Amino acid sequence: MSPLSGATGSQHAAILGIGGYRPSRVIPNSEVIAAIDSSDEWIQQRSGIRQRRWAAPHETVQMMSVDAARKAIDRAGISAEQIDCVIVATVSHMLQTPAVATAIAHELGTNKAAAFDISAACAGFCHGVALASDMVRGGSVGHALVIGVERLSDLTDLHDRGTAFIFADGAGAAVVGPSDEPRIGPVVWGSDGEQFDLIRQKEDWRDVVGTPDRPGTGTMPHLMMQGNPVFRWASYAMAKIGQQALDRAGVSIDDLDVFVPHQANMRIIDAMARSMKLPERVRIARDIAEQGNTSAASIPLALERMIDDGEARSGDTALLVAFGAGLAYAAQVVTVP
Ligand code: UT7
Repeated sequence: MSPLSGATGSQHAAILGIGGYRPSRVIPNSEVIAAIDSSDEWIQQRSGIRQRRWAAPHETVQMMSVDAARKAIDRAGISAEQIDCVIVATVSHMLQTPAVATAIAHELGTNKAAAFDISAACAGFCHGVALASDMVRGGSVGHALVIGVERLSDLTDLHDRGTAFIFADGAGAAVVGPSDEPRIGPVVWGSDGEQFDLIRQKEDWRDVVGTPDRPGTGTMPHLMMQGNPVFRWASYAMAKIGQQALDRAGVSIDDLDVFVPHQANMRIIDAMARSMKLPERVRIARDIAEQGNTSAASIPLALERMIDDGEARSGDTALLVAFGAGLAYAAQVVTVP
């Protein structure tokens, strides 16, 4: 017989508080079109984006994260010392190592919480919520903080027609903790590495810096995206993933109140809602119009806006569906805190 005693956690987990940070610089379509030979009309028709926000120099990944996290911790009604783990989903922390999560945990005043970054692009926040929920239930933590944060403006080529009008900056955070009933459903997640090249950093760091036999480009390795295949994949396959998350949580579409898909494109949001046959009374997140695509931050920011606007109420049942580079995806049903 094993001499070890196993960890035991709370039977169930919940999102206890959500917080967001939106950078101060509002960038209307009129400011991006000249460099990409586009128009406000085209961008709005094809993506639904009217404006986005790009971070000012002081709005760093760490600064935006800490601000969003403080709001989430405050709304959860706990103190920072009660956070045992900080998970940061990002692709735009500019140091390969260490993880930005440790600096964030320190600045927040957690009691030396475990802290690490995860790289699952636009699906990162939902991956983090799944990990946090399992940690709470498995007994590894009392409370975990999940942050989705991006400064994609640092990685975007402003002359690239396929990405310059889409990507944006911001941070969203959620505190995950114990619950007396299930308030985070089972995750449905996966990846399709055959489509690895559809959204990616153009060059790796060796191509930038150079190797003994090859000179480097010496320029920022921007993000590139083959938008249309991603668009078709997301519109078709992600509705099925959303339905599977509902099924696994035992929630019928009639019990769903709120739908918060990744804010990548308004037409994808509409296509998913149509394909899932969501009734009209289900409130749908449409933060993309004002915020652009903030990747890992998009779902918590969109949910926070719905809560602040009274469109999502405490106790509502919400479906989260996230997808992006990898390709990677994750979906779960949660109760709105
Ligand atoms: O967050 C991670 C996941 N990402 C996504 O889910 C993004 C998914 N993709 C998309 O949102 C869309 O594919 C875009 C909004 C990026 C593009 O929309 P689309 O309907 O797929 O356009 P397209 O690439 O098929 O291009 C259609 C036309 C082309 O012209 P022709 O060949 O029909 O004459 C393009 O040259 O639009 C043209 N075009 C543009 N025109 C004005 C492409 N980019 C632009 C532009 N402005 N920026």
